[in-house]
Amino acid sequence: MADSQRHPFLHGLSKHRGAPPTVVVIFGASGDLTARKLIPAVYNLGADNLLPAEFFLIGYGRKDIPDEEFRQLAGDAIREFSRREPDQDVWDRIAAHTTYVAGGYDDAEAFKRLAAHIDDIERKLGREVQSLFYISTPPSVFAPILRNLGAAGLARRHFDGPLHARVVIEKPFGRDLASARELNHTIRAVFEEHQVYRIDHYLGKETVQDLLVQRFANAIFEPLWNRNYIESVQITVAEDVGVGTRGGYYEQSGALRDMIQNHTMQLLALTAMEPPVSLDAEAIRDEKVKLLQAIQPLRLGPDGDVARAQYAAGMVGGKAVPGFLEEEGIAADSNTETFAALRLSINNWRWQGVPFYLRSGKRMARRVSEIAINFRRPPGTLFAAGAKFDLAGNTLAFQIQPDEGLSLILNAKIPGLETRTQPVKMSFRYATTFGSNTPEAYERLVLDAMIGDGTLFIRGDEAETSWKLCTPILESWAEAGRAGMDSYAAGSWGPPASEALPARHGHHWRQP
Ligand code: BG6
Repeated sequence: MADSQRHPFLHGLSKHRGAPPTVVVIFGASGDLTARKLIPAVYNLGADNLLPAEFFLIGYGRKDIPDEEFRQLAGDAIREFSRREPDQDVWDRIAAHTTYVAGGYDDAEAFKRLAAHIDDIERKLGREVQSLFYISTPPSVFAPILRNLGAAGLARRHFDGPLHARVVIEKPFGRDLASARELNHTIRAVFEEHQVYRIDHYLGKETVQDLLVQRFANAIFEPLWNRNYIESVQITVAEDVGVGTRGGYYEQSGALRDMIQNHTMQLLALTAMEPPVSLDAEAIRDEKVKLLQAIQPLRLGPDGDVARAQYAAGMVGGKAVPGFLEEEGIAADSNTETFAALRLSINNWRWQGVPFYLRSGKRMARRVSEIAINFRRPPGTLFAAGAKFDLAGNTLAFQIQPDEGLSLILNAKIPGLETRTQPVKMSFRYATTFGSNTPEAYERLVLDAMIGDGTLFIRGDEAETSWKLCTPILESWAEAGRAGMDSYAAGSWGPPASEALPARHGHHWRQP
């Protein structure tokens, strides 16, 4: 088959979703995320013919790396981390437009060199390109990078036209409300909100996007999606991995900052928000903010709405693993939680009185993220639970990962001459219906940022609203020290303190 048929991108015939000529600059080019996610995402977009024909990649970092060596490292990253076998033709084409600029993040001169490099690309190409600045560094250098993008005139590049510069900011977006506000302030001194793309990679997951489709493209759910029919909602984001080599980062973070404030709250917002007036980014983000604003402040302290814990030694996947306090980079008296659970009340017409339970932890029984909607039970006048009638509440569960899909628990009659019942599960699995070649979250997000679609990114007010809810929890934990820190065996579903949250309403955590 001719190259042009296999890879029209190679010949400038791309049928991409409309990204204009673009230069992507990755700050933190020799970092872990760049190798594991960003470079493979760019490669797979190229392989899927979704890059603009005039696409340029610039790595920026403190290390002095020659262009050729950077291309070599990027090629290695693709071989190691790409979801599909690399095709040399595709990579060669991207590599031909891949370069590296060495410089400090607070080095104004280096940013001028970067600007001159982009000018040079445009000059050689004979036309303007859009610049996408992807900040994938530790948060301590977010501010200097942003300021230097401003000072070097990069943030205002082609400002008045469709090729205006954009900035993508990786997590963590602040570590509490004050720092998130300060970061927003630094960003807005340089960029306008419409140029800013705050990443939460959970929004790039297929199943998370499918939540909107399930909720609003099917007529059967919306009439039931409220306090009249729903008893409770449970969101679990469980990981089986421990902190691994990220002890240094994690010690400063913990489950609430690392997972709950961003990923889990986003799942909650999409599950519980009102129908947006359109699929427009602002319409969706407006509804998410309204929902987050309706969450009531949490009751803290003993018997409150929050639980935290650290994993102790245990067995995961048949292997003995150490406890959190024995992990590398973790202080023996660490206060950092590896598990957090919350019980939330949403004070609006739709949800008042319906408890929302959220939990996330490392080293749990298995890796699974799910949203479970538990419906109220029917009146027990005909079929009352008992020896003959094994009945369950109806549960609609969105399995975000792995084994992506949707299931509904119903009660059914067991075939036979007697009327006996049993809960049954109706399931839909992505892999069975659609095959398993799903793009990774970062592919969708990098492409959307190039196209200028902010729907799957966090707006500044959204980040602040979520921090507003989480910051008092963090403050109370900081004040309490280790008092109230529960523990759970690695490989379990979490600590007793977590079980106590639903138990107070007569509920219990569903085992995903
Ligand atoms: C990241 C967290 O945001 O998400 C990590 O910093 C976590 O600690 C990861 O492991 C989980 O992402 P995923 O896509 O593997 O569920």
